[in-house]
Order: sequence, then C-alpha cells, then structure tokens
Amino acid sequence: MSAPPALLAGRLCICVGAGGVGKTTVAAAIARSRAARGERVAVVTIDPAPRLAATLGLDGLSGEPRRVDGAGELWAMRLDPKRTLDELIASLAADTAARDRALSNRIYRELSSAVAGSQEFSAVAKLYELDRDGAFDAIVLDTPPSRNAMDFLDAPARLTRFFDGRTLRLLLSQGAFATRLAGRASAPLLGMLGRLTGAEVLVEITAFFTAIGGMADGLAARASAVQRLLHDPATDYVLVSSPRREAAQETIEFAAHLRAAGLAPAALIVNRVHVPVETRADDATLNAVLGADLAGRVRESTGEAGRLAAADAAAIERLRAAFTDCALATVPELDGEVDDLTGLTRVAERLH
Ligand SMILES: Nc1ncnc2c1ncn2[C@@H]1O[C@H](COP(=O)(O)OP(=O)(O)O)[C@@H](O)[C@H]1O
Ligand SMILES: [Mg+2]
Repeated sequence: MSAPPALLAGRLCICVGAGGVGKTTVAAAIARSRAARGERVAVVTIDPAPRLAATLGLDGLSGEPRRVDGAGELWAMRLDPKRTLDELIASLAADTAARDRALSNRIYRELSSAVAGSQEFSAVAKLYELDRDGAFDAIVLDTPPSRNAMDFLDAPARLTRFFDGRTLRLLLSQGAFATRLAGRASAPLLGMLGRLTGAEVLVEITAFFTAIGGMADGLAARASAVQRLLHDPATDYVLVSSPRREAAQETIEFAAHLRAAGLAPAALIVNRVHVPVETRADDATLNAVLGADLAGRVRESTGEAGRLAAADAAAIERLRAAFTDCALATVPELDGEVDDLTGLTRVAERLH
C-alpha cells in the first residue's frame, strides 16, 4: 500500500470523521509517529475522557502542552474551550482594564460559556495560536465528536457572529426578551442574568458592547486569519473512517462537503478493519484435536470473522473508488483497546 505522505509532511494535520471511528487514536498515532522521526509535535485533543492521557502515560491533560515521556518531542494538550476564548479576548484587549471589563462582564460570561460549548470554534482558534507561536514543527488536531462533522469549518464565521452581536440578538429574541425587560430576565441560556432586573440586564448589555466594541476589528481579523489557516496548503485533512458500510457512506458524503468547501482530504485512514482468521488445520484435524463440539464452534467463529472481513473489504473497495485522489491506509482491529504507547505505535506502523 502506498504511504500517505501527508501524514508525515503537513505542518497542520486535522483529523476528521464521524464519532467513535478512532479520530483521537489516529491523531495520537500520527503525532507519535512524527515525534519518533524527530519532529517536535503537539497533539491537541478535545476528548475529555482520561483514556488518551492514559494511553500517552500521562495522569491527565490540560490547556498547557505536557510532554509525553519516552516519545521524543511529543507534547499533548486538551482544549479548554472557555479558556481559549478568554485568552483570545485578553490578547485583543487594549489594556488590562479593558481585558478585565470584558472578561468580568456578565453577558460575556454567559455567552462565552454557551459559545465556548462550541468546541469546534476553540479547536481552530487554538490551532491558529499554536501555529503562530511556532513552538512546534507539527500540530495534530483531533476534532470534537460533533453531530455535524463539518461544524469546525464554520467556526471562524461563528466567532464573528458572536461578537458582532448577532448571536446575542438571536438568543435574546428567542426568549421574548422584551417582556422580561419589563420584569426579570429568565431565559434559560441567560441563567445568571435571570437574577437581575430588566434595568440591570440593559446595563450589562451596554457594558458588553462597550467592552467588546473596541475588539471588533481585531476579532474580525482573527476570524479571517483562522479561515485562511483552514485553507492553507500546509493544512492537511486526514479523514478517519470505519470500514462498516454506513460509516463508509458517511465518509464519502463528508469528503464531498470538504471538497465543496475547497478542501481536499490528504489521506483516508480506514480504522478497525477485520482481517480473516486463518486456520491451517483441516476439519478432521480440528475434530481430532478439539473434539467435535469445540471444533464446530471454532469453525463457526472463523466463518463469522471471514464474513466480517469480506464485508470490510467490500466497503474499502468502495472507499478506494471514491478516493482515487488521496492516499488510503488501513488499520486492523487490534486486540483489546489501544491503551498505551505501544498500541499507538502499532496503529502508526500502518500509516506509512
Ligand atoms: N485499530 C483499533 N483497534 C482496536 N481498538 C481501537 C482501534 N482504534 C481505536 N480503537 C478503540 O476505539 C475506541 C474509540 O476510539 P477513539 O479514537 O476514541 O474514537 P473517536 O475519537 O473517533 O471517537 C477507543 O476505545 C479505542 O481504544
Ligand atoms: Mg475522540
């Protein structure tokens, strides 16, 4: 199988695909493999599960890159969406007073929690910062398990919408805000504001726009810089797919969305592929060694594994036909979980 060169070359590598297919695992494996080749690599995950940290031999991940022991210059970090947004605001504020006004504004705190909940936004914003910092040769991003895998492409636009007040207006209009202004605010999304009187809410909203207003140009510039980064030729999209039929179909549709956005996938990784089990013994030998009962069960599960492998092979052929323009690699279903550096190495070995 041809090596997917993109996995070893792109400065930024964004792993995308449906939930549960192995994006986090593949992102970590790519990062490990590149670090093993002497690059200084950051793998950025959003996975709150401690599993990735444990796989990397760390007792946890945080918003600061942490070095993985025994893996060269491999660094791992977990996105903290709220913190990413706060840092962005802080970096755009004219001075510390302006920063504090914005960060302590109650509207900002309510909305940033809601918007920071959009992990896609934070993911690309963080990617941009890490890229600009220049501290790493390569950055591998594990994308969030969104319902819509394309959400992160929309993230820069969402950033602009948030701060130019459109998001705020939308939230406010949803809850018949006018009636609340007469009494007390009570929209669920604006929970904290619910304890304020209408007049106090107005004061907070005015303060929000005053505090954020001076940052509008900076934010718009940042949004378009992030947008450019997503479309930069040095940014590679690595599609991760399961070989199951429905998942393969989803991957094909996903790639079409990517292409429609002017982004070609650099590589397709088909993960957790079933391989046929080989039994060299013939029926008579199996019966003689195992007894008829056990031999029957062995034949049954061997047959089942064969059927799964054949189904996977057919799905892979379909994928291959749909992805003639990008490298394709398959990773077999490995025994047990991929839960340590050795497991990641086994995945990585299949990627080049
Ligand atoms: N090739 C593989 N063989 C066996 N288990 C795998 C393989 N790839 C991933 N897994 C397991 O599948 C589960 C989901 O993988 P994960 O990378 O978290 O998926 P995603 O990030 O797409 O949701 C994890 O428990 C992981 O250990
Ligand atoms: Mg994941």
